[in-house]
Amino acid sequence: MNKIDKQIPCLITIFGATGDLSHRKLFPSLFHLFQQDNLDSHVAIIGIGRRSLTNDEFRTQVKESIQAHVADTKHLDKFMLHVFYQPHDVNDEESYENLLELSLKLDHEFELEGNRMFYLAMAPQFFGTVTDFLKSSGLTETKGFKRLVIEKPFGSDLASAEELNEQIRRSFQEEEIYRIDHYLGKDMVQNIEVLRFSNAMFEPLWNNKYISNIQVTSSEVLGVEDRGGYYESSGALKDMVQNHMLQMVALLAMEPPISLESEDIRSEKVKVLKSLHLLKPEDVQRNFVRGQYDKGKIQGQEVKGYRDEDRVDENSKTPTFVSGKVMIDNFRWAGVPFYIRTGKRMKRKSIQVVVEYKEVPMNLYYERDKHLDSNLLVINIQPNEGVSFHLNGKKYVQGIETEPVQLSYSMSAHDKMNTVDAYENLLFDCLKGDATNFTHWEELKATWKFIDIIQEEWEHTEPEFPNYEAGSNGPLESDLLLSRDGFQWWDDIQ
Ligand code: BG6
Repeated sequence: MNKIDKQIPCLITIFGATGDLSHRKLFPSLFHLFQQDNLDSHVAIIGIGRRSLTNDEFRTQVKESIQAHVADTKHLDKFMLHVFYQPHDVNDEESYENLLELSLKLDHEFELEGNRMFYLAMAPQFFGTVTDFLKSSGLTETKGFKRLVIEKPFGSDLASAEELNEQIRRSFQEEEIYRIDHYLGKDMVQNIEVLRFSNAMFEPLWNNKYISNIQVTSSEVLGVEDRGGYYESSGALKDMVQNHMLQMVALLAMEPPISLESEDIRSEKVKVLKSLHLLKPEDVQRNFVRGQYDKGKIQGQEVKGYRDEDRVDENSKTPTFVSGKVMIDNFRWAGVPFYIRTGKRMKRKSIQVVVEYKEVPMNLYYERDKHLDSNLLVINIQPNEGVSFHLNGKKYVQGIETEPVQLSYSMSAHDKMNTVDAYENLLFDCLKGDATNFTHWEELKATWKFIDIIQEEWEHTEPEFPNYEAGSNGPLESDLLLSRDGFQWWDDIQ
């Protein structure tokens, strides 16, 4: 990460500062930015929470979280002098008056030039209330910039997302809203565009003439953990597909932008998302598979099924797995399936893209070998980070026999130390006012439109759950989704 030429003074106010996200991601990321000199010394952070805590009590908690997540804690005490706490009731006007008072005081003390970032890391039902109060209390009237960073879920369907958007827009302009999709902060997700648009060798082949299918997987070993309450109302389709998975599809499928300006990149992404082939309700069953994990074994340990998790209905119909075939109706991609797949309690943690090329037009080696592997481009996003190419080469024996060969590059351990987390990249971008790696309203609209059809259809049909064992690759139907088209998931490939 490059240092900002001119560092930017800012007051960062985090709503939900005692929550899990703040402790695991936001404070460690802010500290790391501070430590790397990417945060101005003119910065102050107000943590907002319901609990009544003193600054010192809060600082002790934040310090412990940072120590648990960042290996090198040099300058931690110095960083903590920038952190403050304010107990707050989101529905109470007086709380916002107190917040305004503290904001003005810190602005003066730390010379923050009136720049304000409001980060909503809290339950989504409060998003609209908070933004309304931010405006009515005068917190958004400031001589510097004001920016709103908002976590997902942004609505639970198109209609509710529209409603929320209208509400938020009463207090913030679209260009002041930074909707987080943390996948867009991952280095290897950002690398998709760099690979495609800075190398002559990919773009000419990046189309339906040469590519047979693209597979995008995000599988997790973890189950629903302590988020059963939230997850029951969301499920894998809304929790992962509507945002992370479709964002990766957009980056893989977009046309080259005319520049790297946020607007230019975004307009290409929006075009792809608007070209997603909208399924007819009767085609949903055939093109999308849902699953829910049963008990099973993960790394030798027995784990419970989803329906036995805390705050989960014993007859829950919530999918913890989704795979689907996404088609893009445009000139470049007509006829090429993008298979997406995501699930909890699967065999391994892996975020991976596999681009499978078509066979060579005339396989001279086919007769000899009876088999020639497809060329694959594998982009490993997590936990491994790197790229590999799977090609065919000559075997080192007499005669002409082929064998698969692999060219790989992986990100070095040194590179990985540059950021502690995707959130660090995103917070840094937001401070700079760069909205490229955030979700624009137009993108959200297009993805919800696509998702709503699937969700609606699923609500009308009874799933046969649970239908995959914890520790597996998901339900059998997910394999059939590809085998019907003559393909297979590339599961054990690196
Ligand atoms: C979040 C989802 O957005 O992404 C979680 O709400 C999921 O359910 C997580 O576990 C996965 O993120 P990552 O970065 O671990 O792949």
